[in-house]
Amino acid sequence: MRLVVTGGLGFIGSNFVRMVLAERPDWTVTNLDLVTYAGNPANLSDLAADRRYRFVKGDIGEPGDLARAFEGGADAVVHFAAESHVDRSILSAEPFVRTNVLGTMRVLEAARAQGRCRVVHVSTDEVYGALGPDDPPFTETTPLNPTSPYAASKAAADHLALAFARTHGQDVVITRCSNNYGPYQFPEKLIPLMITNAIEGKRLPVYGDGRQVRDWIHVADHCAGVLATLEKGRAGEVYNFGARSERYNLDIVSRIVAMLGVRPELVEHVADRPAHDRRYAMDAARAERELGWCPARTFEQGLADTVRWYVEHETWWRAVKDGSYRDFYRQWYEERGS
Ligand code: NAD
Ligand code: TYD
Repeated sequence: MRLVVTGGLGFIGSNFVRMVLAERPDWTVTNLDLVTYAGNPANLSDLAADRRYRFVKGDIGEPGDLARAFEGGADAVVHFAAESHVDRSILSAEPFVRTNVLGTMRVLEAARAQGRCRVVHVSTDEVYGALGPDDPPFTETTPLNPTSPYAASKAAADHLALAFARTHGQDVVITRCSNNYGPYQFPEKLIPLMITNAIEGKRLPVYGDGRQVRDWIHVADHCAGVLATLEKGRAGEVYNFGARSERYNLDIVSRIVAMLGVRPELVEHVADRPAHDRRYAMDAARAERELGWCPARTFEQGLADTVRWYVEHETWWRAVKDGSYRDFYRQWYEERGS
């Protein structure tokens, strides 16, 4: 298997690349990543000497960069690259449309030019919109009803991916997953922000009443689902992933406070996010039935492991939070970028 991964220096992509190279010894991986603020070469620095791994610095929106990533041929592409943070999409939607919509179209075109090349398009539960407290979880047939510019750009990308499958008979499969947490998550997202702020003795900003619900899944369980989709998913299908772990934001923050033994007064309710989706929940029955997938970790186990990871990897997140990770690695990716 000659695999191209886009966005492999980000949170989920880096966990996926490491997992694939450990579990599929005869595969090669080319990682195409623009190294935006969210792309950190430190996330995969342990692979520097692995001859099965190739890094290409480039933009999925640029056909020439995609051509360099696909040089020598590819059997499949797993497409993670995206602008991924809702709050940033509220400040400026343009990078989201550019990368998530136009970029996805270019990835689809580049794969199509290969002939036989499967595309796994990695999407999110946020395309379905928000659930009420008593609604059943989202299934793959729930209509798309995105709220934020981020979710809208991902929904547009999903429509394009399915349109390419139908129109061109292209081998495309979509995964939609709930909120991930785990090692190497950028500390702008809820769980790593709260863990690192707590360690630093900083305030823990909870949006609104903190009674919003997310359905949390450990990143390793999501990556196993993406790999199962790549190997067993039906072309033209969508697979939902989630771990039946609905939790209130405030309960998660309180748990982190207790685990780290910090003052509960650090928790501060701040202005709510505009049009904040109240609840997400996923029905992953199709993935369980067709792919033989199921999550291996409970939320409590996974959160404890994740808190420990951040405690033990202070150098990693401090460099991200003070911005020095960008200076330190500028030379790294200039040397390696082809
Ligand atoms: P991330 O923000 O941590 O990483 C994104 C990566 O994409 C970075 O390495 C960045 O440098 C790269 N990138 C951005 N724009 C690019 C471009 N134009 N060309 C090439 N590379 C580019 O994101 P993540 O949390 O790892 O999410 C990965 C994917 O999974 C996204 O598509 C996201 O929508 C989806 N997803 C995320 C979650 C979650 O909870 N984080 C849940 C479900 C789905
Ligand atoms: P986030 O990690 O940004 O993921 P998403 O918006 O994609 O679900 O946020 C998870 C939840 O936590 C969401 O309901 C917003 C909330 N939140 C806070 O209350 N405070 C924060 O500082 C952040 C970043 C998020």
